[in-house]
Amino acid sequence: MAPRIARCRGAFLALVFAAAAWSCSSGGGGGGGSGQPPPDVGGSGGGPPSPAVPNLYALAPGGMPVGVAVPAGNFANSLLGSVARQQVVDAHFSQLTAENIMKPSFLQPAEGTFDFADADELAAYAEARGMTMHGHTLLWHEQLPAWMETFQGDAADWASMMSGHVGTVAAHFAGNATLVSWDVVNEVFSDSDADGDGLHDMRDTLWLANIGPGYVATAFRTAAAADPDADLYYNDYNLSGVPAKLAAVLDMVGAFRNDPDPVPIDGIGFQMHVSLAWPEIGQVRSAFAAAAATGLKVKISELDITVNTDGNGASLGMTELTPAVADQQRARFEAIVRAYLDEVPAPQRGGITVWGIADVDSWRRTYNSNEWPLLFDDAFAAKPALTGFADGLRAMP
Ligand code: XIL
Repeated sequence: MAPRIARCRGAFLALVFAAAAWSCSSGGGGGGGSGQPPPDVGGSGGGPPSPAVPNLYALAPGGMPVGVAVPAGNFANSLLGSVARQQVVDAHFSQLTAENIMKPSFLQPAEGTFDFADADELAAYAEARGMTMHGHTLLWHEQLPAWMETFQGDAADWASMMSGHVGTVAAHFAGNATLVSWDVVNEVFSDSDADGDGLHDMRDTLWLANIGPGYVATAFRTAAAADPDADLYYNDYNLSGVPAKLAAVLDMVGAFRNDPDPVPIDGIGFQMHVSLAWPEIGQVRSAFAAAAATGLKVKISELDITVNTDGNGASLGMTELTPAVADQQRARFEAIVRAYLDEVPAPQRGGITVWGIADVDSWRRTYNSNEWPLLFDDAFAAKPALTGFADGLRAMP
């Protein structure tokens, strides 16, 4: 079998065998110390990998990462305690993103107290299987520890507190060959353009309010100093469907470059929480092309495709995923993967990550329990969506 990854900074290159032959003992055991074995939702097994698509990642041109966001730590559905999830992940993905446990509230729960145990355990899981990891996220305005939300101090104190977090976390993983890239700042831009200049405004966060707009550049500089080898991404949602939001990101990238002391940035992450109806594929293609024209890497960082929403996000009232809709979702996964490969030149491809293993785990169910946004169903069986993703990868040699 082919090695799972193309880049592995010095770690041993694990050869990956079919899931059936692969040991499912985790790289460290336990689910982050909860003491309770997390259940495998949906039954006993997950079943064999789809014969049509035995290894999704093996189809990726140039060994481009094909990633998945995974629960870990104390989450009841942690990958580390679920054989069914491990079978899917080990068979199909070459990169992991922590769905939650590497966000600030998990890594620095109390001021000055960092807790890397769960993240290190997940990184060990990835390393043992020759997978890489994409770090998510050094900075955000959500999932912050309470002490950060109530932090008191002037702009310099805030900047130092922010850099303390970014620098300490990036430095911790700098020595880890498995961690190859970071989302440095997540969701800096809002969903509106109040001044009508064609660029979405910066989001009103505590970082902006307390430090000022320069906080984004400071975060990138701090991350680069702490881990000069990692690819540093800016990550946001709706970049493929809202041109004025992407324009704001590209404007920021331009300002980073024009700075007399250029701000280090390696890539743009398109979250791509999209639906069957929105955005239209032509818009998606133009957005990928515009981002690629910067010369930066482009990554689809959080792909999922809802089916039970209209173009405005309103529920269509479905109560089951019918074969006809599952087939539309297959075609939509194929079209998006194909658009990415067509529009982003090979050296700039940061890869494609889906935001969750199976529908039963998807965060989109928080908003509508009748959603089926991912590649595997509630029993961890491959959906037509997996075939669509694979066909999209196969379209490009
Ligand atoms: C989501 C997780 O999937 C949920 O489990 C959690 O409750 C909230 O965060 N954009 C992001 C991700 O960048 O971090 C979010 O993940 C989904 C939206």
